Amino acid sequence: RTSGTTDVYEITQRTARLQILPGLETTAWTYGGTFPGPTIVSRSGRRTMVRHRNELPHPTVVHLHGGHTPYSSDGYPTALILPPGHTASHDDGMAGMPGMSGASDAQDIAAVQRTYTYPMAQRAATLWYHDHRMGFTGANVWNGLAGFHLVHDDEEEALPLPRGERDIPLMITDRSFAADGSFRYPALDAEQHKPGVSDQYMDGVLGDVVLVNGAPWPVLETEGLRYRLRLLNASNARRYRLALDPQPPGGGGLVQIGSDGGLLERPLKHDALDIAPGERFDVVVDFSRYRPGTRVRLVNRLGSGGTAAVMRFDVSTARPPADDSRIPARLSTLPAPQPENAVATRTFHFQRSSGSMGWTINGRAYKPGRPLAKVRLGTTEIWRFVTDFHHPIHLHLDHFRVTARNGASIGPYDEGWKDTVDLRPAESVEIVTRFTDYPGRYMLHCHNLEHEDMAMMADFVTE
Ligand code: C2O
Ligand code: CU
Ligand code: CU
Repeated sequence: RTSGTTDVYEITQRTARLQILPGLETTAWTYGGTFPGPTIVSRSGRRTMVRHRNELPHPTVVHLHGGHTPYSSDGYPTALILPPGHTASHDDGMAGMPGMSGASDAQDIAAVQRTYTYPMAQRAATLWYHDHRMGFTGANVWNGLAGFHLVHDDEEEALPLPRGERDIPLMITDRSFAADGSFRYPALDAEQHKPGVSDQYMDGVLGDVVLVNGAPWPVLETEGLRYRLRLLNASNARRYRLALDPQPPGGGGLVQIGSDGGLLERPLKHDALDIAPGERFDVVVDFSRYRPGTRVRLVNRLGSGGTAAVMRFDVSTARPPADDSRIPARLSTLPAPQPENAVATRTFHFQRSSGSMGWTINGRAYKPGRPLAKVRLGTTEIWRFVTDFHHPIHLHLDHFRVTARNGASIGPYDEGWKDTVDLRPAESVEIVTRFTDYPGRYMLHCHNLEHEDMAMMADFVTE
């Protein structure tokens, strides 16, 4: 719906019976009855308002991942929407994890519905929205609470990139199912609806079937033309190394044109693409490089069994129409990151908590309202992330540039504006961010959702 200068969406969060596996029904927690939820489309510079109504049997929180969003609409983990008839209890803000008690002064609880306002003062990019309830994000997203939110702008539209039916968002997730077809999320005690506190999910919860846009190993009939594929890893914890099999002659079949925060400066050819939870890679695949009739598989080189295959593209044998798209050698102009302007350098250690179960940042388990950093709006900072394990690190509010990996130059997947950066064991990454516009309380956290739920999250305050 459109009213004046605002695009308005209304979404009812409800359980729905979906057919995901042949012959079986899966009861999902959905945005509007589908998984993924409805795709929200915004215009850069034009406000979007999304009214969420919660008809699920438990509280929820909605976060726009990659959104440059005022604090009151960012989906702070205790800013719940309660379902009808539910009154806030002490437990609602808590995670049942040692060290994660204490709903805070930041309590902001809405009954049944909440309207999120997104100014959309940001460039074209592939964003996504998902649940962010403290302690329950893993369970809520696994059960279906995720959707795309695309932002378009003039700069992007002026480029001759594939569009319309050849611009396809692909949400990649892994899931496990019980014999009756229900989603099997083992880290949640279903009866009590509490996270199962356990050391068992060190790597997070991994599924054994890959779903693309909610379907297992789908097949897309393609013409021998260029397609833009907006790849999102919305899995709780799984990383993928995506590749085309077979590769087109000469390789470099995945031509990256964008990252989390929109267009790159120049296209970047990849034979394979490592994508961690939360990350997006915008790629163009030119199926005219294949012989008509070729079945091109998108595979996961890090997977095995049901997680080795992602989807398939069957290139039509029909003679394709002339391709009106191309990939310009120059896509955009990005301001250079300016570490020399930084007013502060901070280091964040992502570690296992010593003694108790769970995960920490700088030795602290998450506690709402206890910020690990206070930053001045309008200033630039260098943040260093250090770990001995594997963590995809995500920052709310502003996108950043990666400026170093292990003290040397950046990796092949670190180009462009990012909001999530993957840290492998014993790595360090340096990012540069300029904090802008909105005062409030924002999140820095691991996007392995089980790590997040087990307290690997921190507030930072902007003022
Ligand atoms: Cu996609 Cu704070 O999360
Ligand atoms: Cu986010
Ligand atoms: Cu982690």
